[in-house]
Amino acid sequence: MNKKVTVVGGAGNVGSTVARCIADKALADVVVVDIAGQKAAGVALDMLESCPITGSDSRVIGGADYAQTANSDIVVITSGVPRKPGMSRDDLLNVNFAIMKAVTAEVVKHSPNCIIVPVANPLDAMCQAVYRLSGFPRERVIGMAGVLDSARMRTFIAMELGVSVENVHAFVLGGHGDTMVPLPRYSTVAGVPITELMPKDRVDAICKRTADGGAEITKLVGTSAWYAPGAAATEMVECILKDKKKILPCSVFLQGEYGIHDLFVGVPAKLGARGMEQIMEITLTAEEHAALQKSAAAVKELVDVIKV
Ligand code: LAC
Repeated sequence: MNKKVTVVGGAGNVGSTVARCIADKALADVVVVDIAGQKAAGVALDMLESCPITGSDSRVIGGADYAQTANSDIVVITSGVPRKPGMSRDDLLNVNFAIMKAVTAEVVKHSPNCIIVPVANPLDAMCQAVYRLSGFPRERVIGMAGVLDSARMRTFIAMELGVSVENVHAFVLGGHGDTMVPLPRYSTVAGVPITELMPKDRVDAICKRTADGGAEITKLVGTSAWYAPGAAATEMVECILKDKKKILPCSVFLQGEYGIHDLFVGVPAKLGARGMEQIMEITLTAEEHAALQKSAAAVKELVDVIKV
């Protein structure tokens, strides 16, 4: 039997991209759930009809009814209002919190053993909401943010140096917001830190463009990004389904790691069949540590507003 992944908000831009990537790679059967039930059914059927061409045996179904999601292995939550130009991710707090309440109740009812990957913004606060509302252990609520932010940083590094993106690794810690913490010392090309490969002003420019990466797309497109966020969530899903034990930057519930307590913040984590299997604590300079604490404080401000 195939594994089963539900994508909530699956008729939207990010959700349909995740669903399609999973089906394209034949990683699992996919359930596309959306309050726009008819659209979800249509989007799912369209994807299913692409499978004979891509050679995928994923079964893709869709609709508004959560009954079809029963016993999913993973549920990706992409529901929520996206940003418009000029809005920060934080502006979405209250409206998306209300959506998380409704969605999490359904997810837990139908798939009590699943792993949840929240994608909605403001990401870290929404993870904390889903974690508290679900009552799941922290291993089974893992937010998508760092994979996206580091993919953006990898793109900019590859562009700057004219090298293959496959040679580039990048690390971005912290909350998925303006205070995120790109780490040039741990960002490498063929194993060499980028601080050795380009002048400081170029490193700084890449870090800034990474932190502004979501806003850059939102300004160009008129709504928030979906291809890179969709690909990022799919990488997490693949790691979990295949028990790859890859270290990826994810938003996870910290309980003292990095000196942060009871808060979702982005750090390197090992993803495998059990979800978040280990948090990797890397050594930070005083400056990096301070930036991470500042980013955590920004997340804390949001979770305090919604009291989760
Ligand atoms: C972004 C949104 C999805 O960073 O947060 O593009």
